[in-house]
Amino acid sequence: MYEFVSLGFADIDQILTIEEMVYSHPWSRGNFSDSLMNGYDVFGLRDSAQQIICYFLLMPVVDELHLLNFAVRKESQKQGYASAMLTFMGNYAKERGFVSILLEVRCSNYRAIEVYLQGGFHEIGRRKAYYPAGDDTREDAIVMRRIC
Ligand SMILES: CC(C)(COP(=O)(O)OP(=O)(O)OC[C@H]1O[C@@H](n2cnc3c(N)ncnc32)[C@H](O)[C@@H]1OP(=O)(O)O)[C@@H](O)C(=O)NCCC(=O)NCCS
Repeated sequence: MYEFVSLGFADIDQILTIEEMVYSHPWSRGNFSDSLMNGYDVFGLRDSAQQIICYFLLMPVVDELHLLNFAVRKESQKQGYASAMLTFMGNYAKERGFVSILLEVRCSNYRAIEVYLQGGFHEIGRRKAYYPAGDDTREDAIVMRRIC
């Protein structure tokens, strides 16, 4: 049984280290501190040395939760942590009366798309040229939703 905890400003340094290892276009310190200042929830798991294993960030929009960030540190991937985050997120959303969870994911992020499909999300649309990509190009987002 995983024990998810709320993460805060003191955790941003550790989160940024993970961001830079796992994303081609990582979030900045400002992105995280703005999110925390806006009251968005950040949850994660720590190992026995208090190091962050994985985290996700949720923005409430009326009766829907928008999943804005979702990551597992490199050395802990493929061990079921993403699935554990989705299970915890689903229970959290249901207990608080949210009706759905929405997310965007890069078209090329097959691994994350598979994790989300396995976690009960399905594609509801695409946003053209939503993400910056390499060499001044842009990449489409797949929009996925899961009903709670
Ligand atoms: C996408 C991401 C979150 C997936 O995390 P993860 O912890 O590796 O995912 P899980 O372990 O829960 O499941 C993924 C795979 O591990 C497998 N798995 C699950 N439990 C496992 C276990 N106990 N032992 C071994 N493998 C396991 C799953 O079957 C799945 O296998 P697959 O590679 O054949 O598809 C991670 O790769 C990541 O952080 N990527 C960078 C950030 C990112 O792209 N986030 C999404 C933004 S939209």
